Amino acid sequence: MVAKENILSVELQERLNHFQDEFWVPKEKLNHIIEYFISELNRGLHDGTDPLGIPMNAAWVMDYPTGNEKGDYLALDLGGTNMRVVVVHLLGNHKFTTEQSKFKLPSTIRTTKNREDLFGFIAESLGKFLKEKNPNGIPEGKVFPLGFTFSYPCTQTRVDVGVLQRWTKGFDIPGVEGEDVVALLKKDIKKRNLPIKIVSLINDTCGTLVASRYTDPLTEMGCIFGTGVNGAYYEKVSNISKIDGTLEDDILPSSKMLINCEYGSFDNIHKVLPRNTYDKEIDEESPRPGQQTFEKMTSGYYLGELIRKSMLECYNGGVLFKHLAKNSEGAKNLNKAYLLDTSFLSALESDETQDLSETDSQFKETLAVQTTLEERLFAKKLASFIGTRAARLSTCGISAACKKMNYKHCHIAADGSVFMRYPHFPERAAQALSDVWGWDGMKMEDHPIQIVRAQDGSGVGAAIIAALSDIRISKGLS
Ligand code: GLC
Repeated sequence: MVAKENILSVELQERLNHFQDEFWVPKEKLNHIIEYFISELNRGLHDGTDPLGIPMNAAWVMDYPTGNEKGDYLALDLGGTNMRVVVVHLLGNHKFTTEQSKFKLPSTIRTTKNREDLFGFIAESLGKFLKEKNPNGIPEGKVFPLGFTFSYPCTQTRVDVGVLQRWTKGFDIPGVEGEDVVALLKKDIKKRNLPIKIVSLINDTCGTLVASRYTDPLTEMGCIFGTGVNGAYYEKVSNISKIDGTLEDDILPSSKMLINCEYGSFDNIHKVLPRNTYDKEIDEESPRPGQQTFEKMTSGYYLGELIRKSMLECYNGGVLFKHLAKNSEGAKNLNKAYLLDTSFLSALESDETQDLSETDSQFKETLAVQTTLEERLFAKKLASFIGTRAARLSTCGISAACKKMNYKHCHIAADGSVFMRYPHFPERAAQALSDVWGWDGMKMEDHPIQIVRAQDGSGVGAAIIAALSDIRISKGLS
């Protein structure tokens, strides 16, 4: 058989070399990014209000879970694509069980003009869930404590309040930014007379960290590599100068507080990230240009768009899909923004068939484009460049936080569709860490800092944080 790499035409090979350069981030560049990242994490702890900086949102969770917390809690997890409602039974002894239901968010909800569509949908789903779990009715007087995982940047002054700073991940619903989302949800819960009390609001990264720490005390960070990209860690209270003067007397400066970094917004001033033409176009065409620069280069929400734009440019330049007529359905599809999502790249990257027949089906089914083997090889390689860049860049947040906190041996709990389902992502991320930390020759499983699969991150984390809040309240602490 002809070696697959050798069958590209000269012009396609040239394009591929070009893309390889465009998407490759060498070790030196990673180090340079990390250095600036650390200074931006610190800046956000002093003042997180600069929209060009990283918010570093205080989460008002002051305790590490011990693994002994117990009780039954409801958790609600509003992510980028799905919503989950979970009953979490914390059993103590680092163990828990869950019962959950998934609700697909209506596709129009991301940009609905009416905020009640969203909060009404959430309350409605909570009601359905309670009914399903309590077929004989809910006992008189029973109130379910709920931890709400809301994966968008919020300013918190307490654990049960969260004012949305801005929408991310393509959401754009008016009347929510600048509002307390807990209060908005409470209103719709009350309207439906549901016996639910929201006791905490948390970010998915915080949930991921806390849930994993419940079972694995080596966990120091929680990260999401999914529709969005973000991380959380515990910071010394004395380093969070922006909350000076707002702390209760019982909080010692040496204690630690959970911080939701919101580092998807890293480098909004475009100082260090190697943005290419496609990144710039994606930003300009997004509902929020200039925001979430780091996220737009690394998260699952944008990877499909990166490959679509790259292929479209080659098509328009006459080097790819040469026989595809300009007025064909395939050509029209290639021009449709966000038609491709990350599962398209995942399918290409996991195709191990000799003639790339799975890639062939992907192109036919998703784009209505007929491909030659050469074109499929080209697309598969292109996907690997885009996926590799996402993995390498997205570890910069981890390296920055670990260097800043001097964590040299720890676990980073990771969740999100890209980490869990994108082929080779964990290995590429581990390779990037190895490049930066100098672990050449060491086996991945021996790396001192390991990115590990999270324990059902957001749902369980919300329940544990709800439990921690309950414990503080019952001890008379804030
Ligand atoms: C976006 C959100 C952030 C969330 C991340 C992962 O970056 O702003 O709150 O943690 O996506 O879901």
